[in-house]
Amino acid sequence: MKIFITGSNGLLGQKIVDFCLKNSIEFIATSKGGNRNSKCPADNYCELDITNNEDVSVLIVKEKPTHVVHTAAITNVDFCELNPKESELVNVTATKYLVDASNEVQAHFQFISTDFVFDGTKGNYSENDEVNPLSEYARSKVKSEQITMETAKFGWSIIRTIIVYGVGENLSRSNLIMWAKGAIEKGDAINIIDDQFRAPTFADDLAAGCLGVILNNENGVFHISGPETMSIYEIVERIAKHFNYSMEKVNKISSSTLNQPAHRPPKTGFDLSKAYEKINYKPHTLEETLDLLF
Ligand SMILES: NC(=O)c1ccc[n+]([C@@H]2O[C@H](COP(=O)([O-])OP(=O)(O)OC[C@H]3O[C@@H](n4cnc5c(N)ncnc54)[C@H](OP(=O)(O)O)[C@@H]3O)[C@@H](O)[C@H]2O)c1
Repeated sequence: MKIFITGSNGLLGQKIVDFCLKNSIEFIATSKGGNRNSKCPADNYCELDITNNEDVSVLIVKEKPTHVVHTAAITNVDFCELNPKESELVNVTATKYLVDASNEVQAHFQFISTDFVFDGTKGNYSENDEVNPLSEYARSKVKSEQITMETAKFGWSIIRTIIVYGVGENLSRSNLIMWAKGAIEKGDAINIIDDQFRAPTFADDLAAGCLGVILNNENGVFHISGPETMSIYEIVERIAKHFNYSMEKVNKISSSTLNQPAHRPPKTGFDLSKAYEKINYKPHTLEETLDLLF
């Protein structure tokens, strides 16, 4: 087995690298620009911009992986809304390049997707629920899911996940839990929405889920998230309670007051039965991960 990772400088990419190192799985890590993860050995790293079709094909054919784990994406939902061409290029066209190259070496292709493929009217989504994307980002993920399902010829998996959090090195963006913990610890005044519901996902659990699907020789769509769905406000409230911080300066607001360019689904969260049953997925609770992180 040899895993080819895209987006290895990102939060999930770094955790996939960690998992491979800990479990002695052969891998090649790739990302845009230089290696920003000191835990990833230089010999395992290759710079790769996934929007360059020629480079994607040459590197995958040279490395001959058995599995491609595609985590790289533009993950800023509002940026995608305002820059649909760039979103299409990185989040859709590049997926096609990667699937084509995976087919050349007969590799399984794994695509990382999102809860945002759903419209958020139902909640507790299972893998069989109908998608109905509300934003450019979400539509780009649905298109790439279709490319994966329809054109990956040697096995495929789609891992959908929700608000990913954890610690990484030199990340280009922060994540909700790390940011909120820092802000309430300092006593900053912050506005937090109470009308969107999510199941926050510990990045280490997500990496174990992605590789669990591969190690168990599974194919198909898998929902991998944290075990509990709650409002964003409740996430912050539980962090405050855990560390005995005051909620005095945390203002509860409605998402309509934010005027964000991209529409977000009000209530997601996943039914994790398939992951529990097929890959023995064991996610940590929010409080357990706070003890591991701080
Ligand atoms: N984070 C979440 O809450 C969340 C929720 C649902 C689904 N997901 C999905 O999960 C996956 C991993 O997310 P994440 O949190 O690890 O995201 P992340 O930290 O933003 O990592 C994404 C990585 O992709 C890289 N990248 C962007 N454009 C690239 C290009 N053209 N060529 C090569 N690499 C490129 C980025 O490079 P730079 O660091 O240099 O910018 C970054 O390192 C993504 O597919 C995302 O859509 C994430």
